[in-house]
Amino acid sequence: MRAFSVPAFRQITPFAESASRLIIDAGCGTGHSTRALALAYPLAHVIGVDQSAERLSRAPELPDNACLLRAELADFWRLLQAAGWPVEHHYLFYPNPWPKPAHLKRRWHAHPVFPCLLAIGGRLELRTNFSLYAREFQQALHYSGHADASLLQLPAEEPVSPFESKYRDSGHPLYQVIVDLS
Ligand SMILES: C[S@@+](CC[C@H](N)C(=O)[O-])C[C@H]1O[C@@H](n2cnc3c(N)ncnc32)[C@H](O)[C@@H]1O
Repeated sequence: MRAFSVPAFRQITPFAESASRLIIDAGCGTGHSTRALALAYPLAHVIGVDQSAERLSRAPELPDNACLLRAELADFWRLLQAAGWPVEHHYLFYPNPWPKPAHLKRRWHAHPVFPCLLAIGGRLELRTNFSLYAREFQQALHYSGHADASLLQLPAEEPVSPFESKYRDSGHPLYQVIVDLS
């Protein structure tokens, strides 16, 4: 585990344990999507997680029902599963694509932490501009017993995050994989 993951997780424990509804923004970058989710779900508590202190330092002002945490995601997911907090929505917006074949194991569906991510439960949504990532993610969910995992092209809507905005402005097709793990 990264040295910063455990103390950061402890710090957000009171925030998470006071929540009746919990939403995770995994790999939140600058936290703009965390803010957007907190405004869209005012009755939920939203936790944005990213390992990059530099990106987190560029976060906008957040409403009271949102917080940001610097942690490595594999660490965070293992700690989250152990804590047993019920997660309602779990978002993975534009994870690093790791496009080369040799990078496969760094994509989340091929990473050893994947079973833990599934065990956390809730409605899981991945968004990516990399169609192979979306297709592999959906396949991995199917192989894990989630035959209802859907892969759709993201409809044109207000971008939720800076990377969504950047890819949409460049004319990339965007994909979403959604599964209900509850
Ligand atoms: C392509 S950016 C997307 C950021 C944001 N979700 C968006 O859509 O604008 C990927 C983000 O994932 C973070 N990230 C990548 N691997 C990570 C890991 N293992 N643990 C935590 N964060 C990670 C990076 O620091 C980066 O901010």
